[in-house]
Amino acid sequence: MHKTRHLSVIGAGYVGLATAVGLAVRGHEIDLVETRSDRREALLAGTMPIHEPGMMAAFADPEVRGRIHPLGAPRPGADLILVCVGTPVDAEGRSDLSQVEAALGSVADYVTSGTPVVIRSTLPAGIGEAIAARVGGHGSRVFSNPEFLRQGTALEDFLQPTRVVIGTFDNVDEDALAMVKEVLHDGDSPLLVVGMAEADLIKNGSNAFLSLRLSFANELAVLCEALDADVLKVIEGIGFDPRIGIRGIQPSFGFGGSCLPKDLCALTNVGKSRGVRMHVAEAASEANSSHQRHFADRIEGLMTPGSRRIAMLGLAFKAGTDDVRSSPALNVARMLLERGFEVVGFDPHASRNAAHELPTLAIAESSEAAIAGASVVVIATEWPEFRDLDWAGLVGTMASPTVIDGRRLLDGKRMRELGYRYEAVGAPSGDSSRSTTSPSPVH
Ligand SMILES: NC(=O)c1ccc[n+]([C@@H]2O[C@H](COP(=O)([O-])OP(=O)(O)OC[C@H]3O[C@@H](n4cnc5c(N)ncnc54)[C@H](O)[C@@H]3O)[C@@H](O)[C@H]2O)c1
Repeated sequence: MHKTRHLSVIGAGYVGLATAVGLAVRGHEIDLVETRSDRREALLAGTMPIHEPGMMAAFADPEVRGRIHPLGAPRPGADLILVCVGTPVDAEGRSDLSQVEAALGSVADYVTSGTPVVIRSTLPAGIGEAIAARVGGHGSRVFSNPEFLRQGTALEDFLQPTRVVIGTFDNVDEDALAMVKEVLHDGDSPLLVVGMAEADLIKNGSNAFLSLRLSFANELAVLCEALDADVLKVIEGIGFDPRIGIRGIQPSFGFGGSCLPKDLCALTNVGKSRGVRMHVAEAASEANSSHQRHFADRIEGLMTPGSRRIAMLGLAFKAGTDDVRSSPALNVARMLLERGFEVVGFDPHASRNAAHELPTLAIAESSEAAIAGASVVVIATEWPEFRDLDWAGLVGTMASPTVIDGRRLLDGKRMRELGYRYEAVGAPSGDSSRSTTSPSPVH
């Protein structure tokens, strides 16, 4: 049985909330420090400020909730401080570390007087010394512990991590390290204690590798469209090779979210700053933009002359979350709006965030309301509820019943039987009128 600790978690976003709730589930007392008053107020009212099913269920337990204390600023007395603030990239693709710097500034006095601090935010590799400088140069008590959770299963992933990575400086304080391990390595996951740059590169490298696998699968999907072949069969066949292990990758029209695109960018920039060109990471990023433009072109190609209305089902970057950061659905919606189409979106959990992110997008109250009068329906996020819509009843409500499935969610054969023109990412057209000899260019 581990000792109950008083912990300070800074930042109540996707990672901070998973960290706070996970550690409270394990019995620790948590100060959850968040500058956004709407997030603090939601927590004080007993609700999760984000959509994460497992976390919402755990937070509903009064004992867990009672151990989490939302605060606007850190207070003294914590045994350990965990920094979970955002590290976005700026317009030039460089990591913006202002949130980490401000968070460290707010706890520098506590670190100076002996409290260890763990950075759980994703840092670009190679900036350890600069980070230590923010807390008075006390690198011996500064640790990097990158988080590997997936949104949608965030709490589960926090509680049963694939591995726990702890980055330390050479002059590490062994007592502080012992406490970091005690709090963060609770179970039998592999534990890696490595240097700071190695820890950050493990995180950056993992996300970059996941991205390039996705970009490759999506590129195969585009090629399959040109060959009238099915990418799902191709990926399945490739995946049987144990050296590749590509199974489980679902091809789509692009990947997004707050991590993969930005961590690809960050890795490319770390390379640039050290004179190392990251050719593969650059290519994965460019391919991702190209796949989204290709999908927008395909949607435009399905519009009949004079038709303008497109229904976009799904706005989150993937199912299971309300997060729309770098969402491919919103990127494609933006392109279509710029081309003069009317795009009406709906998402079971992300509509509010999407309206904030892309104010020119019209938001419908339901899938049915988005679809009514549209010429093309786009399946942009793989929410299971879209599979369960009354497609037989909806066919007559559209201006021309056409569906393009960016997530391979629906049964194409059934959709065609119901009277839809149905197309999907990486799928044979199933429509003899579609030419396979004039491939659409991918930019
Ligand atoms: N979202 C993910 O799935 C995920 C997974 C692994 C790692 N990460 C990394 O974890 C970090 C956090 O990601 P996120 O998605 O939780 O970000 P987020 O933007 O959802 O949350 C960050 C929160 O920190 C708050 N904040 C910023 N500065 C603060 C300060 N000085 N004091 C208190 N609160 C402050 C913000 O208001 C915000 O609520 C990033 O570095 C990200 O790359 C994210």
